[in-house]
Amino acid sequence: MAYSGRFTPGDRVQLTDAKRRHFTITLQEGESFFTHKGEIKHDDIIGEHEGTVVKSSGAGEYLCFRHLLVDHVLSMPRGAAVIYPKDAAQILVEGDIFPGATVLEAGAGSGAMSMWLLRAVGEKGKLISYEIRQDHLEYAEKNVSEHMGGHPENWDLRLGDLKEATKEDIGEVDRVLLDMLEPWEMLDTVKDVLLPGGVFMTYVATVPQLMKVMEGIRETKAFTEPKAWESLVREWKVDGLATRPEHRMNAHTAFLIWARRLADGTVAPRPQRRARR
Ligand SMILES: C[S@@+](CC[C@H](N)C(=O)[O-])C[C@H]1O[C@@H](n2cnc3c(N)ncnc32)[C@H](O)[C@@H]1O
Repeated sequence: MAYSGRFTPGDRVQLTDAKRRHFTITLQEGESFFTHKGEIKHDDIIGEHEGTVVKSSGAGEYLCFRHLLVDHVLSMPRGAAVIYPKDAAQILVEGDIFPGATVLEAGAGSGAMSMWLLRAVGEKGKLISYEIRQDHLEYAEKNVSEHMGGHPENWDLRLGDLKEATKEDIGEVDRVLLDMLEPWEMLDTVKDVLLPGGVFMTYVATVPQLMKVMEGIRETKAFTEPKAWESLVREWKVDGLATRPEHRMNAHTAFLIWARRLADGTVAPRPQRRARR
């Protein structure tokens, strides 16, 4: 699967017209794509650099780029809501997903986070993804395979309920990411499989979920004091005297929760609060 270089057959290419409308095609020798401004021959794109303009038979102009992963995630078919790219970035950085890491993820959903994680762990790492629903698992499989040129060898996608999985099933992992309705139900499993020092992150949409999972993490006494936050990204329109923030934004996606696994038997020093006067 080529992510850079000249276009070759099999590449998924995003064509953008003058009105910023996007069309996605998969290049095949001898094929054509028909727009309201006529025919675009795939052969006119194959062999060209990314970032060039192709003309249709009706003089339409289309800028050609391969899909970035972010484009794929936002345009691919979904069974379940995906982790938004701004939050995926937080998970990769705050979750310290490193090359070579073994990561446990649930649920796989539409496969968006699986792709970010697979990229970050690299070929020497491993991703184990649980998904309870067959239909969602099929979305994940298809979306990941389409972008990564097949099912990655280091991706262990399993149909099943993470709650029922044992340490024998999973082994020991460096990082855990949960994106599901009731992550507090999985804390015993997370505690069993996460190595001391390992990072646990979970992603929940509502305040009651946030409160419940934070309390659950504290009650295990197996993790550091959890922290919670959300990421807000506001785009700007930059255009002379009209420069200003965009009117609309995705104000709320979900909360991020983070904690580290303590060594067994460790009692972490209680966080000290300043005495009130
Ligand atoms: C919001 S989606 C995950 C989306 C995914 N992170 C992505 O970025 O595409 C939540 C998924 O968790 C799955 N799920 C819920 N409970 C589960 C469990 N106990 N074990 C495994 N998967 C579970 C659901 O079926 C659903 O597909």
